Amino acid sequence: MKLPLTKKQKAPAVPIVPRRMGFDFSGVKNTDYWFDNDPVLTHLLNILSLTFPDGERFFVDSVRALRDQVTDKERQKDISGFIGQEAMHSLEHQAFNDLIAEGKYDDIVAHALAVTNKLLAGARKHLSKRRQLAATAGLEHFTAILADAILRRPDLINKMDPAVRDLWVWHAIEETEHKAVAYDLYQDVSGDYLERQRAFLFSTAYLISFSSYFTWQMLKRDNVHKKPLTLARGLWKGFGYRGVISGIIPAWLSYLKPGFHPWDDDNSALIEEWRKSLPEPKAKNAA
Ligand SMILES: [Fe+2]
Ligand SMILES: [Fe+2]
Repeated sequence: MKLPLTKKQKAPAVPIVPRRMGFDFSGVKNTDYWFDNDPVLTHLLNILSLTFPDGERFFVDSVRALRDQVTDKERQKDISGFIGQEAMHSLEHQAFNDLIAEGKYDDIVAHALAVTNKLLAGARKHLSKRRQLAATAGLEHFTAILADAILRRPDLINKMDPAVRDLWVWHAIEETEHKAVAYDLYQDVSGDYLERQRAFLFSTAYLISFSSYFTWQMLKRDNVHKKPLTLARGLWKGFGYRGVISGIIPAWLSYLKPGFHPWDDDNSALIEEWRKSLPEPKAKNAA
């Protein structure tokens, strides 16, 4: 079912530029709770980070497979920017993930990566290119609203260890820059509303189950499951009033609207605001 877009937003002129940052995590230990000294928030974002290298390679492949459907030069440039940025995210998060995987959590990390790989291999094998792109568009919405939740909350960012904070701020900025690329391509090649929703619901259900399960494994490894107060405090910060995750529910729901477009919420001002806080990139256009 292809529905006409009720409001085709003109995206703001946000250049999509890949930047090689070369973050150095050598001073960070994976037993540090780098996010607000909180085990729940730290492990939740660590687990999300584990999915990024393989997940973002899947995003890149699904966009690359159908980019020839677009003839507009500006759109092609944006798609190249998207591919370059996601490639950089995979590299930088891989360095962070290598740190998470050391010693204490190595078996949990190996298990999480195996599950991710298996699911993505299944998606590549059994889903059409169009459906793979629909899944990418849905997950890109998820990453965009998580990015927005981070960039709108200096109080949260300031609770991150500075050595790790720049990774998340940089990633959140670039997810914002390219948030419409996969979605616009999907609208061009299909635009099927029900297929878009199915892919979105399935993808986010998977991500929530996966993150909950493996975050719990990490917390158990740290014996946090035997510390109800610590657990309750972390859960409140994540899922309570103005929580990191509960705060994104309205934006998550917006994807269900038939005329949705990622730039309905023009949050481009956050990009420049936060870029000033980052170190200079090691290289630009570093795809
Ligand atoms: Fe990314
Ligand atoms: Fe992305």
